[in-house]
Amino acid sequence: MNKTIAIPFRIKTAITLSLIIAAVSFLTMCMRKEKTAKKITSKDFAGSASCQSCHKNIYDTHINTAHFHTSELATAASIKGSFEAGNNIFPYANGTFMAMEKTADGFFQVQYSGANKLQSHPFDIVTGSGTKGQTYLWWDANKLYQLPITYFTQAHQWCNSPGFPERAVFNRIITSRCLECHTTFINKISAPEIPKEDFDKNTIIYGIDCERCHGPGADHVAYQTQHPADSTAKFIINPAKFTRQQSLDLCALCHGGKLQKTKPSFSFVAGDKLADFFTWDSTAREALDIDVHGNQLGLLKLSKCFLQKSTLTCTTCHNPHQNEKNELIVFSQRCMSCHNKEHNNFCTITSVDEKILKRNCIDCHMPKEPSRAIAVFLPGEDKLSSSLIRTHYITNYPVETQKYLDDLARSTKK
Ligand code: HEC
Ligand code: HEC
Ligand code: HEC
Ligand code: HEC
Ligand code: HEC
Ligand code: HEC
Ligand code: HEC
Repeated sequence: MNKTIAIPFRIKTAITLSLIIAAVSFLTMCMRKEKTAKKITSKDFAGSASCQSCHKNIYDTHINTAHFHTSELATAASIKGSFEAGNNIFPYANGTFMAMEKTADGFFQVQYSGANKLQSHPFDIVTGSGTKGQTYLWWDANKLYQLPITYFTQAHQWCNSPGFPERAVFNRIITSRCLECHTTFINKISAPEIPKEDFDKNTIIYGIDCERCHGPGADHVAYQTQHPADSTAKFIINPAKFTRQQSLDLCALCHGGKLQKTKPSFSFVAGDKLADFFTWDSTAREALDIDVHGNQLGLLKLSKCFLQKSTLTCTTCHNPHQNEKNELIVFSQRCMSCHNKEHNNFCTITSVDEKILKRNCIDCHMPKEPSRAIAVFLPGEDKLSSSLIRTHYITNYPVETQKYLDDLARSTKK
């Protein structure tokens, strides 16, 4: 017997309605998921040249920043090291040597044993603006490798690439995480489980460009171009509107020390929560445990300025669109926006003239320290030479203060 259960009309509508609501909310949930998990492709980017027409001032200063130059196509202009005879050799202890050679086909690192050429690979990509140094990458089909010789700016010399053994090694693979910190975008074409990643080299966007910090901008450029009368921005991220955490997370993607990724590289977009994409080791609690290279956030977080002023972020002191390297007077003015006589928290050192203090808070409170991570062996030396980098642990440094005062006394005596 066919049992039919009579359902009153009102309940029927209610069931249908709730089914519809469930379906709709399921769909929107999927769409939302779709939106956050949307895979970014090279088509989403417009390139910074296209921002120039409407944001000329920012564009013009941005192209002088270390960010913009942190990766480039290898050319005579972008490679800082010398190819001239006498300056182009790096000798290994085992008797072989590397020569940096320029030919009609380009630039190469060539390994020799005596007069025998053993192997040779091209400089394809330059990483590093050259403030501290440059490391070079070469393409083997769709895979990228690091070349064994690096340029070390502090010594104006070629040197063994950091962490490389004392012999020519050409098989050090470059990962998407390396490129995530030094380029704006590249499309990975190999499956996630393959450790030696393949990239689509035509999709690379060199440098840390506008769209690394503002998100892909193709839709913004298309919209603002089609609607020139609309002076409100559409389809672009403005970090000026971020919370403190969002603002710090954007810089920490690359300046936050060693992060372990839990999602594919290049999925994090400005405004996202870093913790949704990475886990990191937060055990190092002493400034001495944190290397001055690559972990400015870790050090800043230990400083009283950061702990006691909840609005302080990286952009309190750094203008992300300008190269302000060595402009210590400008930076000191930013310190004095908080530390001044009116607030009764100005520098307490009394042995130094106020005029001198005001010119340079930095050398005494954020001295340069040797990095353990950027340290290289120079030819013929058995001790590591370290890059000197500003600490972001802002505090009192009596030894550095004495050194600064001694240097000052010496220069005024002259
Ligand atoms: C056709 C003109 C045009 C182009 C091209 C253009 N923009 Fe814009 N942009 C605007 C206008 C108009 C505004 C809104 C007014 C303003 O803030 O200057 C704006 C605002 C912005 C803002 C601030 C957003 C906000 O919410 O206030 C950012 C960031 C930005 N643009 C980045 C970019 C980047 C990056 C590019 C290149 C990929 C770019 N723009 C290309 C016209 C343009
Ligand atoms: C995608 C990675 C990435 C992001 C995001 C990023 N940086 Fe950097 N930053 C770098 C790299 C790489 C360098 C080294 C550039 C070089 O010299 O080759 C650098 C260098 C710098 C420098 C030194 C500039 C100089 O003249 O030597 C400052 C200051 C800086 N970043 C501040 C910031 C701030 C502030 C933010 C957040 C608004 C930020 N960065 C976001 C990767 C990044
Ligand atoms: C977590 C992000 C991150 C990763 C991964 C990373 N770097 Fe860097 N790198 C930085 C930052 C930030 C700086 C500069 C600031 C500093 O020294 O603290 C820098 C500096 C450099 C410099 C010196 C640039 C200069 O002249 O100042 C070189 C060269 C370099 N990196 C190459 C590489 C290569 C090659 C890889 C991959 C094998 C790599 N980096 C991986 C963030 C990163
Ligand atoms: C290293 C990250 C970074 C890069 C690269 C970068 N910006 Fe920005 N941009 C920021 C941050 C952070 C802010 C918000 C600054 C603030 O808090 O006032 C910002 C703000 C802006 C604004 C809004 C200004 C305002 O007053 O609201 C515009 C427009 C803009 N950027 C355009 C560009 C363009 C165009 C480029 C490339 C030529 C570029 N940015 C490159 C980080 C970056
Ligand atoms: C946004 C405000 C702000 C800025 C900008 C700022 N500070 Fe601070 N700083 C503070 C606060 C708040 C404290 C903790 C209370 C105090 O000592 O005044 C502090 C503490 C300090 C201390 C004492 C540290 C210790 O360990 O006892 C020194 C030194 C210092 N700041 C130097 C600087 C220097 C140098 C700069 C610029 C590079 C700077 N600050 C930028 C807000 C700021
Ligand atoms: C209180 C001010 C202040 C804050 C906040 C601050 N910085 Fe700096 N930063 C400086 C000064 C000053 C220098 C040295 C500039 C120079 O010597 O040219 C510097 C230098 C740097 C350098 C280059 C280091 C080197 O020696 O090559 C990087 C990278 C950097 N800052 C990143 C950041 C990041 C990322 C944040 C946020 C986590 C941040 N800074 C927050 C003041 C600050
Ligand atoms: C010649 C080195 C030197 C210069 C330059 C200098 N300071 Fe200091 N500062 C010190 C020393 C050392 C102390 C702590 C010892 C003392 O009070 O004698 C100190 C103390 C401070 C304190 C108080 C720290 C505390 O323990 O509460 C602040 C804040 C500060 N300085 C900020 C600044 C600012 C901002 C500037 C730039 C306008 C600056 N200093 C320039 C060496 C210097």
